[in-house]
Amino acid sequence: MSAIESVLQENRVFPPPEALAKQATISGMAGYNALCAEAERDYEGFWARLGRENLHWSKPFSRVLDESNAPFYKWFDDGELNASYNCLDRNLENGNADKTAIIFETDDGKVTHISYRELHARVCRFANGLKSLGIAKGDRVVIYMPMSVEGVVAMQACARIGATHSVVFGGFSSKSLHERIVDVGAVAVITADEQMRGGKALPLKNIVDEALTLGGAEAVRKVIVYRRTGGQVAWQAGRDLWMHELADAQSAECPAVPVEAEHPLFILYTSGSTGKPKGVQHSTGGYLLWAKMTMLWTFDLKPHDVFWCTADIGWVTGHTYIAYGPLAAGATQVMFEGVPTYPDAGRFWEMIQRLKVTIFYTAPTAIRSLIKAAEADSKVHPRQYDLSSLRLLGSVGEPINPEAWMWYHTNIGGGRCPVLDTFWQTETGGHVITPLPGATPLVPGSCTLPLPGIAAAIVDETGQDVPNGNGGILVIKRPWPAMIRTIWGDPERFKKSYFPPELGGTLYLAGDGSIRDKDTGYFTIMGRIDDVLNVSGHRMGTMEIESALVANPIVAEAAVVGRPDDTTGEAICAFVVLKRARPNDEEAKQIATELRNWVGKEIGPIAKPKEIRFGDNLPKTRSGKIMRRLLRSLAKNEEITQDTSTLENPAILEQLKQAR
Ligand code: WTA
Repeated sequence: MSAIESVLQENRVFPPPEALAKQATISGMAGYNALCAEAERDYEGFWARLGRENLHWSKPFSRVLDESNAPFYKWFDDGELNASYNCLDRNLENGNADKTAIIFETDDGKVTHISYRELHARVCRFANGLKSLGIAKGDRVVIYMPMSVEGVVAMQACARIGATHSVVFGGFSSKSLHERIVDVGAVAVITADEQMRGGKALPLKNIVDEALTLGGAEAVRKVIVYRRTGGQVAWQAGRDLWMHELADAQSAECPAVPVEAEHPLFILYTSGSTGKPKGVQHSTGGYLLWAKMTMLWTFDLKPHDVFWCTADIGWVTGHTYIAYGPLAAGATQVMFEGVPTYPDAGRFWEMIQRLKVTIFYTAPTAIRSLIKAAEADSKVHPRQYDLSSLRLLGSVGEPINPEAWMWYHTNIGGGRCPVLDTFWQTETGGHVITPLPGATPLVPGSCTLPLPGIAAAIVDETGQDVPNGNGGILVIKRPWPAMIRTIWGDPERFKKSYFPPELGGTLYLAGDGSIRDKDTGYFTIMGRIDDVLNVSGHRMGTMEIESALVANPIVAEAAVVGRPDDTTGEAICAFVVLKRARPNDEEAKQIATELRNWVGKEIGPIAKPKEIRFGDNLPKTRSGKIMRRLLRSLAKNEEITQDTSTLENPAILEQLKQAR
């Protein structure tokens, strides 16, 4: 049975635990419905109320939503605020100064507690340091750092002075980093000497050095380096500085620069259906409001909670649910440098037990791989740990299959913690479809219902609503404050990608297929409808990987498709035609390894194809179009049932089938 069939046949329902529902921020379906009704009645009034009640504005807004230049929507645009002020200073004013903001744990298990007062001082010092280098509002700064308090300090310091940050995941190659540095026009890069993951030191500064030699990045004046390991790094005098030397010399007071609500807080690159990654631009006001609201609604955050989101700050989840949301909501959060399997696959469970985590937020891939580990070795089975501190569990990044959901619910949540399957995207800024722990009855495999104010719907190819029970295209019908503002430097692509004319030009196109339950209206996400793959919760464009492959001098042609994978959700499968004759089995193995490493260098290890098959050609129509649906069937090793009569070269299918 496929994952989607098993969701559609799912009839287990888990109502919210009564005690939890009683004290929840949104209590019961009545509470949820009341907020939805408020948004329905007066959409702008609803968002204005949330904006006023939840953020500190140095200049209050009077306009709520400006649709005059749709789809370039503006929210709260005559208001001014500062994100770092809202995350830090507000906590000092509200009696949270000595509350722990971050419990940081290193790869090798050293734990540090950083209070809001201390975090504020560190952010101020570093912000003053950035200012001393002439970095100011409107500048872009690339951050290429490990999971570290310093990473959060770097992001918050940029926000404090109005510089727009663009964080690049530490697993990307020098080429990918270079592409992003150039596209965003960075004036500085903040990095670390090395990062520690699973007991191994991996270079960061050296990769920055390499990226900056590739040309076109001359705008980068400074490279600021956090000393994590003390490992050997090259040094360019005049350009390179140590983060601690820059910050230590500075005052611990740095007034936060008020910026307009629409000022870009950050740009985060993500994969789309063309070869070039998109710089998703987010605002300050609308984004921060939603980061905070979803902490209060989805995670029902309470003052005593210990929140742990296991994402990396290089992805949007690490932005919204590490660097901004938890701080804006005054939470205590755990931040972890390492990997779930080091020193063994019980690491997460041991940390939850020891640090008394109450809300745990991770990805289905992690859960699935830890299920396998627990089944293979009872020493790392969660039953060996006391997980009774937990009260809520979250899942993000990819569909969670009902089997993994049930295991998570039973073995990690002890049957008592709601599992929140949060659907959202880099572009949505925060959760958009998700259960609420004190309100929504849960169905394994379904992300249930849209948050209040989010007009999610399912339509057909012409933009018409489809009835519940029928699959279709997931859209959001009205703008919301945390939505993407534009693609950095490419407003036309923004319009085309997210508000396509075929759907009428006003609906936000998420890029996922979805279906709603006939009775409950619950949403189930069926995966991407474009050429984007989701591997271990990481978004990868098939075109990006194809471009990387054909950039290799021995490759003539390449096509990349996804196929279902038990652990990683999807796996990358590449079909390659070489410029030379098709290799025999022995050679094929060796060339596949070479090409895999090549893709690792071109994009990053996360993009390495799991499988590479070589053919004399690719299945094409007479007009020369590659028939990807046939490749998808081949990748899944399923019988070809599609019509192949339009194929130019039907014999190629048999060859590619044998090539596995
Ligand atoms: C997928 C990550 C099913 C989806 C926050 C989306 C999900 C893409 C879920 C965005 C979920 C995310 N259930 N699929 N709960 N959450 N996705 O931009 O395909 O890295 O479009 O943002 O991940 O990935 P992104």
